[in-house]
Amino acid sequence: MISKKYITEHKNKEIYLYHFKNESGSEMKVTNYGAIITSIKMPDRDGFFDEVSLGYEDVSSYIKDNPFYFGCIIGRYANRIKNGRFTLNNINYQLTTNEGKNQLHGGHIGFHQRTWEGRVEEDVLILSYLSPDGEELYPGTVQIEVKYQLTNENEIIISYEGVSDKDTIINLTNHSYFNLNGSKSAIFDHELFIDADYFTPTDEELIPTGELRHVEGTAFDFRESRKIGERIFDFEDEAISIGNGYDHNYVLNGSGLRKVAEVNEQTTGRCMEVFTNQPGMQFFTAHIIHPNTIGSNNNIYEPYYGICLEPQVHPDSPNKDHFPNCVLRRGETYHNETIYKFSAK
Ligand code: GAL
Repeated sequence: MISKKYITEHKNKEIYLYHFKNESGSEMKVTNYGAIITSIKMPDRDGFFDEVSLGYEDVSSYIKDNPFYFGCIIGRYANRIKNGRFTLNNINYQLTTNEGKNQLHGGHIGFHQRTWEGRVEEDVLILSYLSPDGEELYPGTVQIEVKYQLTNENEIIISYEGVSDKDTIINLTNHSYFNLNGSKSAIFDHELFIDADYFTPTDEELIPTGELRHVEGTAFDFRESRKIGERIFDFEDEAISIGNGYDHNYVLNGSGLRKVAEVNEQTTGRCMEVFTNQPGMQFFTAHIIHPNTIGSNNNIYEPYYGICLEPQVHPDSPNKDHFPNCVLRRGETYHNETIYKFSAK
């Protein structure tokens, strides 16, 4: 069931909060400002419901500032594009730059700061946004649709579609930070599995160098589930030191919609599985969260209080021929599907 509550007006547009509740009693809240998931409540092994995603109590806090990108949809291109530049159909494009000389998460005003149109169809919330030609200097007007669903099996299904009137590039993701321990402690004891043999090391500016590095024998090997904290501060590994922990894109094994990751938290028994049709996934351990950040439910966040698992196309793909395709041709449909499935053991 989805109920809708009016919150406020922002730049002449109405902002709502959509409250999902399924038959198991699990809940999710989403606002059409930035298409942000503001809350996810899931049971532990004793049936106790608690907050498993980081966020703020009020929608107005997100409108004021959401410096860590809690819960939002990122676009038009999630992650980084070197120098904000790329070439398509022999045309050189210079995008806006918002992280030094590079572009991060769509530029100055990304999709996470836009107000989306919302409509509810049965148990699905459909959020749409028309990104005009030239927005953040991207080519093409792109019609985006993001669908959010919370199933009775405690799956959050996010499906994305986009159609452009000109050839362009696209890479959408959701930037939720998860913490299966009720968002009350750092994520070092969370156990993680990632089905990936390779990751994409970066330079100091977090732009992939182009190398696909095998995870074997490195702190990046999560092919067998193990605690995130085990090697997160192995700073003699240059990649760990650049990312202040983990802030890296994994080259996911397989293709099509498949299971790519699983997170387990032993004290609560909560488990989260990730399924996606995307070729890559950014694994980020949130060192940037400011100490003493006041989050929802009066939780106080510190650095390393959440993990992001952001299915996507590899960062800087527009400039790397051997990286997956991120070009959306005129008239074609971009389709991305990601599922976060919760359970308790
Ligand atoms: C992540 C990115 C990090 C950081 C963060 C923003 O997706 O990998 O480097 O920019 O977003 O909070």
